[in-house]
Amino acid sequence: MTSLFSPYSLGRLQLPNRIVMSPMTRSRAIGNVPNALMATYYAQRAAAGLLITEGTSPSPDGLGYARIPGLYSPEQIAGWRLVSDAVHAAGGRIFVQLMHTGRVGHPHNLPAGARLVAPSALAAPGTMYTDAAGPQPHPAPVAMTENDIRTALGEFVHSARSAIAAGLDGIELHGANGYLLDQFLNAAINQRSDGYGATIAGRSRFVLEVAKAVADAIGADRVGIRISPYGVFNGTAADADTDALYTHLAAELSKIGIAYLHVVDHSSMGAPPVSAEIKAALRASFRGTYVLSGGYDLPRAEADLAAGKGDLVAFGRPFIANPGLVDKLRNGRELRAPDPALFYTPGEQGYTTWELD
Ligand SMILES: Cc1cc2nc3c(=O)[nH]c(=O)nc-3n(C[C@H](O)[C@H](O)[C@H](O)COP(=O)(O)O)c2cc1C
Repeated sequence: MTSLFSPYSLGRLQLPNRIVMSPMTRSRAIGNVPNALMATYYAQRAAAGLLITEGTSPSPDGLGYARIPGLYSPEQIAGWRLVSDAVHAAGGRIFVQLMHTGRVGHPHNLPAGARLVAPSALAAPGTMYTDAAGPQPHPAPVAMTENDIRTALGEFVHSARSAIAAGLDGIELHGANGYLLDQFLNAAINQRSDGYGATIAGRSRFVLEVAKAVADAIGADRVGIRISPYGVFNGTAADADTDALYTHLAAELSKIGIAYLHVVDHSSMGAPPVSAEIKAALRASFRGTYVLSGGYDLPRAEADLAAGKGDLVAFGRPFIANPGLVDKLRNGRELRAPDPALFYTPGEQGYTTWELD
């Protein structure tokens, strides 16, 4: 029987267990540069089979949230080197999640000269928190030209190479939760009539071009992707083609040969459930590693692994207040609850201050 505590081969990596730390934005990257505090945070959690970092922008245009890190400048590469060295010294393995926020953001959070870009010029719903002026309505983004799309593709490639230069073990493309890649996939946001919209193939094209280009640049075995079919975050919505689009996407990603498909299910956070049928269809269409996520505890993780629903299980919120989560799960110990008021605040409180055991 598969157990959460059995080893697993993922590309070039040997994972000592099947526990993945989910990507979680924590907004401690002052000036969008990773730092020693972040290195401590990730190193504290290095017993996970694989750590996936917080969403990290491959472009100045993708820094839509306050204090999220980027990964494109020499300073950012040096910052990520602190993180990778600390994690490796602690015996861990780490992929960086590349998150271009697209239309989700505000100019107050962006560096000078950067722009909010998206497949179409439709503003995201709701507001974006800014340090300068508190929550602000999302402005309408600039609709990307084909030249802008080529530029963004090049930024993903440069960022993927930068990840390897920084000593990170690989990248996860953030194709979920209504950020730029998902903005192309989702018909409620992508209203283009050119080759990057309109049809299932058109809406999938940018994601597949990015996946192919980063795989060619750093090796497909060092690339994963996160997707959220039926997600309703940041203005995404399902439509009649959702099943067909994601099945097509999974099959094409499988041909590219990337290492893993990480499927978001936020029903534990109040989002609509993601059907067992679409999850099974994705698993059947993608021959690489399948990462389960969303609301997992030990019994459900063991049951889903035993049922063959996935190969690895990602835990998000449980890792925040329990840096020693792997041992705690192994020993059946009680978990501490995190403090949501400290999820995105600067500084060490609620971040690196949790007891390590
Ligand atoms: C504080 C916080 C930040 C998050 N940031 C990200 C992120 O940057 N990228 C992402 O893909 N998901 C992000 N998520 C979603 C988590 O990765 C995960 O899917 C979600 O918390 C559900 O899993 P859980 O029940 O194990 O926490 C975030 C969640 C939380 C609580």
